[in-house]
Amino acid sequence: MHLDMAGISHTLDKHGQQHLLQFWDTLREEERQSLLHQLEHVDFQHVDKMYQQTKDSAGIIAQSIDKFMEPVPSELYGGVKRNTAEELKDFLSKGLHAVSNGEVAVILLAGGQGTRLGVDYPKGMYSVGLPSNKTLYQIQAERILRLQDLAKESYGKSGKIRWYIMTSEHTKHATETFFSQHDYFGLDKKSVVIFEQEMLPCFDFDGKIILESPSKIASAPGGNGGLYRALLKEKVLDDMSQNGIKYVHACGVDNILVRMADPHFIGYCIAKNLECGNKVVAKTDPNEAVGVVCLVRKNGTKGIWQVVEYSEILPETAQRRLSDGSLMFNAGNIANHFFTTDFLNDICRQHDDDLPYHIAKKKIPYVDCHGATIKPAKPNGIKMEKFIFDVFQFANRFAVWEPIRSDEFAPLKNADGASDDTPTTARNAVFDLHARFISRAGGEFIRNEGEQVVCEISPLVSYGGEGLEERVRGKTFESPCIID
Ligand code: UTP
Repeated sequence: MHLDMAGISHTLDKHGQQHLLQFWDTLREEERQSLLHQLEHVDFQHVDKMYQQTKDSAGIIAQSIDKFMEPVPSELYGGVKRNTAEELKDFLSKGLHAVSNGEVAVILLAGGQGTRLGVDYPKGMYSVGLPSNKTLYQIQAERILRLQDLAKESYGKSGKIRWYIMTSEHTKHATETFFSQHDYFGLDKKSVVIFEQEMLPCFDFDGKIILESPSKIASAPGGNGGLYRALLKEKVLDDMSQNGIKYVHACGVDNILVRMADPHFIGYCIAKNLECGNKVVAKTDPNEAVGVVCLVRKNGTKGIWQVVEYSEILPETAQRRLSDGSLMFNAGNIANHFFTTDFLNDICRQHDDDLPYHIAKKKIPYVDCHGATIKPAKPNGIKMEKFIFDVFQFANRFAVWEPIRSDEFAPLKNADGASDDTPTTARNAVFDLHARFISRAGGEFIRNEGEQVVCEISPLVSYGGEGLEERVRGKTFESPCIID
């Protein structure tokens, strides 16, 4: 590739980023090539706009959103305990039917850096220490395999669930190698598509891009809302259309209980003719720091759907209760979204530029005047992120779906030692759920008061507790119990 040094230098001057070449004279030829290559890939006009936008929004004194918030109305609130058994059956059939027709895909959000967990490989490759030692990726792959079988049993047609895995510079190569080394965990290699989201430069508080080393720009993945740009750029939308995908379940990599391509959720969204849906769970308490889905309606408008972060509202708003005692704003977001591919196409082609950047102040390694990389002790710059759920505002047909929280949500965010969302809490959530699967299927699981049991059922045997009756009914089980 021909690298145009003069052109780049001019561009840097124009955008006030000339400092990125401050070590130029000291660089070896391959370092120069590498730096030029990085600079060529920065869209400086976009970067200026992005920084300006975040600066402008930081300057505005946040207008209280509380008085514009309305809870999700009950007619748009489906769920395992909200719908009748007959309705649930209907949703399940619709979901399985779509799977058997090959119309369903999963987008896995696996581009994050997982800094809190603190391992130097992708989170999907993490094993929380189940007896089988399966990693998150393997558990997810096996749930897809089992669901494909269930759909085939119901409809006689074996549709493939396409699995799109969004990675970033940090996670792509390792993820590809891992899947290939494990033979795609039994999935058809052709139906697993690993793609990459863009990295964005990190800035100091004056809008200067930070140099991490003399020849490297500090950069970070642009948040899970980087999905929309990546879907277009990496031609994932084309792949979806070529493969007849109509419905997409997008979910985070780090929820060990995630129901991949959840047929209840998808079937519910199909039955309601939604273009976008969101899985939500009841908050554990008013102060739980999760975003809540609500309608934000200003000045007589019809309102827009939004996830409002806990930090954006007053404590008294978070504590408001309905007459039945439940929290008024209780639709906690857990990064599980439904989209039709038509909606995704519309978002990626028409609205990506309208999605806001959110600022996170972070400790970003930077180079000092001697060329050494320094790890700062306190935040010295900003990372900019888009959020996947910021597209809800564009949805005309939107609703939420509420599963049983302990059946479906146990995120892995922190290393052991933290108070929650650790490998230990994730592992125990699996054990507890699987022990409940046994009880629900007519077995007896004996546990002593307060005892943490060990119980693991392979996803290849059961996706969501189904299919266990023959093996467990009338029998007694105790810890440790392994069914595979
Ligand atoms: P988190 O916000 O929890 O971030 O991501 P993280 O990167 O996993 O962890 P920390 O904050 O560095 O400790 C929620 C989901 O969004 C994905 C993550 O992989 C996770 O599934 N994500 C996040 C992306 O796909 N891309 C991003 O740029 C950021």
